[in-house]
Amino acid sequence: MSLEALLAAVPAGSPEEGLARQVKFERLPRHIAVIMDGNGRWAAQRHLPRVEGHRAGIDSVRDIVESSARVGIPVLTLYAFSVENWKRPITEVSTLMSLLKRYLRLELNTLLRNNIRFKVIGRFEELSPDVQTELKAAEDRTASNSGMQFNIALNYGGRAEIVEAARRMLASGVDPEALDEARFAGFLYTAGQPDPDLLIRTSGEMRVSNFLLWQIAYAEIWVTDTLWPDFRARHLLEAIIDYQKRDRRYGGITQPVVAGR
Ligand code: FPP
Repeated sequence: MSLEALLAAVPAGSPEEGLARQVKFERLPRHIAVIMDGNGRWAAQRHLPRVEGHRAGIDSVRDIVESSARVGIPVLTLYAFSVENWKRPITEVSTLMSLLKRYLRLELNTLLRNNIRFKVIGRFEELSPDVQTELKAAEDRTASNSGMQFNIALNYGGRAEIVEAARRMLASGVDPEALDEARFAGFLYTAGQPDPDLLIRTSGEMRVSNFLLWQIAYAEIWVTDTLWPDFRARHLLEAIIDYQKRDRRYGGITQPVVAGR
């Protein structure tokens, strides 16, 4: 994408315009992963039930998916529901699942119009059949799109993913002598995708919460106090600009942030 595409979508003279002009489009992160946190606190601050925070969080999801595609981010992964989130009250879990289905139904045309390919990462088979049907339909309808890859991590756990990958690897009969990191990564949900260059977490907590544990080995982490329902394109642009100022060393010597590294 280009500065022009981004500027066309932001109000002239807005903070977003100023931020858009600072982005170096030749040095974009190849994959941005987001831990969307703070929905409950957002609702509590307004004396609303927790689920209202999740409902409000959908507007942020919509904005960040569309803005990431406009900026030209190749892969975006949003952490929507962890394997641990089943411990929440049943009403909260069922509202989250309903919101997800509704989002997909309402946004499928936007995904198609923006050439976005949708994929679920996580333990798909443990989701209820109606949720599976909706997710599968969105995956199938967007499968031939060639623009941004949009992953939703759902019933996802980083350790569980690594264990499953190990199982699949063993079942494939791979020669242990031939096993290396690249080959192992081919058994993860994100096979074929670049690892996240940038991990964003909202609402201020300094944790990775079992998210993409293998893949974030060298990700740059950006944490904001902004709660997820308040997170918008300007925050995304701030994160990208900050990322572009980092020195990425990969355990070696200083290297400037460049595309593909
Ligand atoms: C964390 O906030 C957020 C979640 C567990 C769910 C995020 C889900 C959505 C925004 C909606 C569905 C997603 C998609 C992709 C359509 P929290 O409840 O842990 O907040 P708290 O830490 O303030 O309690």
